Amino acid sequence: MDLRGAHVLLTGATGEVGRALAHSLAGRGARLTLVARSKPDLTALTFETGGRALPADLLDADQRSHLVERAEELNGPLDVLVNNAGVETSQHVADEDAGSVERAVTLNLHAPIDLCRTALESMLSRDRGTIVNVSSLSAVSSVPGMATYAATKAGLSHFTSGLQADLRGTGVRTLLVELGPIRSPMIERARAYPPTDAAFARLFRTRLLSIITAGRAAEAVCDALERDRRHLRLPRRAIPYALLTQAPRELAAVALTGVPHAMTRAGIR
Ligand SMILES: NC(=O)c1ccc[n+]([C@@H]2O[C@H](COP(=O)([O-])OP(=O)(O)OC[C@H]3O[C@@H](n4cnc5c(N)ncnc54)[C@H](OP(=O)(O)O)[C@@H]3O)[C@@H](O)[C@H]2O)c1
Repeated sequence: MDLRGAHVLLTGATGEVGRALAHSLAGRGARLTLVARSKPDLTALTFETGGRALPADLLDADQRSHLVERAEELNGPLDVLVNNAGVETSQHVADEDAGSVERAVTLNLHAPIDLCRTALESMLSRDRGTIVNVSSLSAVSSVPGMATYAATKAGLSHFTSGLQADLRGTGVRTLLVELGPIRSPMIERARAYPPTDAAFARLFRTRLLSIITAGRAAEAVCDALERDRRHLRLPRRAIPYALLTQAPRELAAVALTGVPHAMTRAGIR
């Protein structure tokens, strides 16, 4: 797709990854509607990127249900929805309180599904648009301390491949982004829990993972959008182990539905 002039609704716009995405998308000519709760942070970002601010709390079902409509009032018909807002949980499951579990499931999984539903009303009526769901490599394999977070991201990845199956034959596309660790406050918070830190240290030592910058991830997402890719995993060195875990699922998908799972069919970068 051509990002020049495209209306992109970006959630989690003021976080580490969101800010980088906002700058990369603006650099390629997109018209941005930027979503987060903090109005001052959003306002600063609108000055930097030329986007429009749409403050909203995605934990609130009513605000979620009107978000796409409000974005279209601000910036016209929606071309791209980027579900990027997310929260990590990093502790032993037994120590998690019910509130933090509910927040993670709502923000990381329920909110993207709701926003996809409402964006599809508009996109399907025009038979065009792209939905980008920002998931994590923890959807493929979890580490200690990240059970709840990984479950929400596995749900989001699985939802995205099901959504892609629903959209087959239409002009609306999906792009699933599964990111490894980004140099960010989120990964620092996660690594503050010693078992999570030890697991990451081992993955870095064995070179199965490397840490990348949000800027690099954002540019790769823009490239994937412009090339109409359906799946992006970063860093590239993680792709073989991701494929290893995915292979049985692919075989099952072919056996059950006659077509490969959306992710493999689309080709993997
Ligand atoms: N950082 C990593 O290492 C990493 C790795 C893999 C995947 N990811 C994924 O990448 C995405 C972005 O991560 P990040 O590191 O940029 O996170 P971050 O820096 O913590 O930013 C989170 C963003 O979400 C917004 N947000 C939080 N709660 C919200 C709510 N209730 N309603 C609306 N907006 C809310 C925050 O703004 P306000 O607080 O102002 O609302 C902020 O803009 C997430 O989905 C994450 O799971 C990150």
